Amino acid sequence: MPVRLGDTAPDFTAQTTEGEINFHDWLGDSWGVLFSHPKDFTPVCTTELGTVARLKPEFDKRNTKVIGLSVDELGNHEKWNEDIAETQGTAVNFPIISDADRKVSDLYDMIHPNANDTLTVRSVFIIGPDKKVKLTLTYPASTGRNFSEILRVIDSLQLTAGYKVATPADWQDGDDVIIGSAVTNEEAEKLFPQGWTTVKPYLRTLPQPNKS
Ligand code: BEZ
Repeated sequence: MPVRLGDTAPDFTAQTTEGEINFHDWLGDSWGVLFSHPKDFTPVCTTELGTVARLKPEFDKRNTKVIGLSVDELGNHEKWNEDIAETQGTAVNFPIISDADRKVSDLYDMIHPNANDTLTVRSVFIIGPDKKVKLTLTYPASTGRNFSEILRVIDSLQLTAGYKVATPADWQDGDDVIIGSAVTNEEAEKLFPQGWTTVKPYLRTLPQPNKS
């Protein structure tokens, strides 16, 4: 069964490079990013894990825990981590799940047999502190992901969890935002007394509320 937006993220217990983890307990009150990579000792995956390790302080700032997954054995993850530290200039500083029995991959529908019947695709799940799935992404094995985009989405999700706003295309933290379409002008006057710009009746913009 695919895992969809708004679903409770399936819970599991798994072996990782940082010991056994119960996913929901490990998440605690944090946001989380669970991402799969197809295989250890492969080039694109090596760069992805190095990138996430370098961005870890940015995830920390956003109260977000990151956890990787592949269907390889724990011993391989540990050996490969040495290569990542050597080639990417940063040691892996987050857990990687060893999912040799594909328990977690199946739970999250990370194996797409028409792409590859044994390896996971590049899946990303962002999970909120309520354990609900807030974003799903699927990339093919041949395309490394843009983890700055994942951070950008977390910024948007965290903002829109607190304010009745939405974020436009290519929005970056600090840019103007859009008043949610379900918000009437009457309600908007109470929520945003600083005012807004009406571009069209359905497109009302204002400076990001928690920055002004
Ligand atoms: C890679 O990470 O480079 C990769 C992994 C699996 C299949 C193809 C490429």
